[in-house]
Amino acid sequence: MIAVTHPDVRDIRLSSPYKKQKPLKRSEFLPFALPDTDETEIEAVSATIRSGWITTGPRTRQFEHEFAQYVGAKHAIAVNSCTAALHLSLEAIGLSSADEVITTPYTFAATTEVIRYFGAKPVLVDICPHDFNLNPALLEAAITPRTRAIIPVHIAGLAAKLDEIAAIAARHGLYVIEDAAHAFPATYQGRMIGNLADQARAAFVCFSFYATKTLSTGEGGMICTNDDHFAERCRIMALHGISKDAWKRYTAEGSWYYEIVAPGYKYNMTDIAASMGLAQLGKAEKMWRRRCAIAERYTQAFQVVDELQTPYDQPDSQHAWHLYMVRLHQERLSIDRAQFIEKLKQLKIGTSVHFIPLHLHPYYKQTFGYQPADFPVAYREYQREISLPIYSKMSDEDVEDVIQGVYEVIEQCKKA
Ligand SMILES: Cc1ncc(COP(=O)(O)O)c(C=O)c1O
Repeated sequence: MIAVTHPDVRDIRLSSPYKKQKPLKRSEFLPFALPDTDETEIEAVSATIRSGWITTGPRTRQFEHEFAQYVGAKHAIAVNSCTAALHLSLEAIGLSSADEVITTPYTFAATTEVIRYFGAKPVLVDICPHDFNLNPALLEAAITPRTRAIIPVHIAGLAAKLDEIAAIAARHGLYVIEDAAHAFPATYQGRMIGNLADQARAAFVCFSFYATKTLSTGEGGMICTNDDHFAERCRIMALHGISKDAWKRYTAEGSWYYEIVAPGYKYNMTDIAASMGLAQLGKAEKMWRRRCAIAERYTQAFQVVDELQTPYDQPDSQHAWHLYMVRLHQERLSIDRAQFIEKLKQLKIGTSVHFIPLHLHPYYKQTFGYQPADFPVAYREYQREISLPIYSKMSDEDVEDVIQGVYEVIEQCKKA
């Protein structure tokens, strides 16, 4: 189900073409990311605090219910991070130290650290050059008798090739656990990421509500699944392995009696966070439309620049535009990526890099003996990537400043 358009969403398309103005002089630094919060979140959180029920409770249940409806999942289990969501998903499938899980090097620490929590082996598969997502053509060669699951990551908010991945997973009896930390609200072939109506596609979809994400609760995450048994297991393990509605034990309808059925974790979402999540969910589409407008404006401005490669957008998918990942054609510039970032910083424009591929980090190098060239596409694309600010709180002026800043750096540093 695709989000319904709210009638009050004004057309926020930015239409003016880029014009050369006076040199950019921002008075304040433009942060790379900011949450889009206002009085709505403050009032929602205040009401929760006033209610006296500040940890997991009715608001968490409401947030789960509304989120499940929004994406079209049967179950949504709110937790305190996407890392926790991924960990609980792997726990629910019974991952063991003898197992392997396939994922991509082009991701954040969380995607593979959760595999290591079990002593299992993350097996990395290189990415597609156009969209930074796991390359399904390389998947089958990475599968061994020990492989239990595949974790595709929807980088920047653009869905990985789920049909191809699901078909391979089904052929080999593997679970698919989607790392959708960037992918709310996104669709793949018309269906929302998180909608698991097509059971063959994935067992779990894990979302992040971290401070920089497209919907934020400060820290938070959500596990979506259509499987009743997996949902029950994740719920139990998210709260100490205590059977049945442990959060209710201090309410009139709850009971003091509980049973520990497994050594669980403390991963529950608080009602304070959930009330912020509910407020954010109410404006999720508006925030998404604003990010789309910014992405469109950036692409319009940058696609004519020979020194830049603009992000790929899949026509049959809805991009969440969590990140705007531009790439430098370095052979046309006299500076490298780090210097480019530094120059933008001097112009008071914050940027970031997504991601330093996992196989370049000391832990993964030392543990698995990786060399940079083991995943050549990830390594090459990482070296020329810059993430520009893209968040709904940016003003039109901020957006134009980013464009002007990038133009100025290119103007100064392009090779003759
Ligand atoms: C791709 C990816 N997966 C997982 C995570 C972990 O999310 P969280 O911070 O909610 O645990 C992140 C966080 O940035 C991420 O970028």
